[in-house]
Amino acid sequence: MSALQLTADGRLRHLLDLATLDPSLIRTLIARAERYRAAPGEDPPRNTKLAGRIVANLFCEPSTRTRASFEIAARRLGADVLNLDLETSSLVKGETLADTLHTLQAMNVDIVVVRHAQAGVPAALAAEALPHVCVVSAGEAHVSHPTQGLLDAFTVLRHRPRPETSCALIVGDILHSRVARSAVPALRAIGIGEIRLAGPPELLPAGERLGDRVFHDFEHALQGADVIMMLRIQKERMAASALPDAADYFRRWGLTAERLALARPGAIVMHPGPVNRGVEIDSAVADGPQSVIREQVNNGVAVRMAVLATLMETVRG
Ligand code: NCD
Repeated sequence: MSALQLTADGRLRHLLDLATLDPSLIRTLIARAERYRAAPGEDPPRNTKLAGRIVANLFCEPSTRTRASFEIAARRLGADVLNLDLETSSLVKGETLADTLHTLQAMNVDIVVVRHAQAGVPAALAAEALPHVCVVSAGEAHVSHPTQGLLDAFTVLRHRPRPETSCALIVGDILHSRVARSAVPALRAIGIGEIRLAGPPELLPAGERLGDRVFHDFEHALQGADVIMMLRIQKERMAASALPDAADYFRRWGLTAERLALARPGAIVMHPGPVNRGVEIDSAVADGPQSVIREQVNNGVAVRMAVLATLMETVRG
């Protein structure tokens, strides 16, 4: 996949996943996002880097914040945005999607942002793209969610400027999580000290080396952690019979104030959203002083601006 993501001279051509991306490129994108950041209420930076360009959002799975975030990012760079909502047509096949890409290209679309429940779709579209068209994954099955990984690492870095002294704990349904699979390489790229994974054994990936340590006991995992990333149970990727009971899950794996007190003082609490209050996290924690969940959303726009601007520079100079 890395071959598709980069030009021959190593510049970002498409953004498909972080696991195969050079850590220095991940750091460069995060540094650029820092320049695009604006806290809520501040006047956000705008420019015309994408003026006259069209960004098409091709979402074949539900999304609220990611799609809105890409749209806002594109508009802040002066692009026009086309939203194509294909999630309702579950019969969309690879070929059909390639046809959609060709149609969009014929209308001079410049960037295609794609979210799909099937692994391999973003890369398949990138392989088909014309030389001046870029593909960005906005979430690929359980495999990859690169802009989420970037915004997660960016958020960690803002709170932990010396990440090598930090321990990040990712909790919950890691097996089906594209968020975890992108957060890990992004956190590695910024030099995080330790990555822990915790969750029920049936929701942890077996034989896949993601973190440094795996815990089956939440209380134990929290000790010494100072970045806690809670994940939603990915019901849409599970058989109904495999779904844990929500109340039981919360008893064992829900992040409550009492549990948070076991972590390092001042630990930050993260969640990619959508948050299921009372399932993986208590409302008091999600809305509490240690939560950076809304900052993650804010940082997401800056990260996506950095990605879109970088890609356009590669193909248009
Ligand atoms: C995540 C996703 O869709 O992968 N959400 C997001 O992008 N904000 C995580 C999730 O759905 O649980």
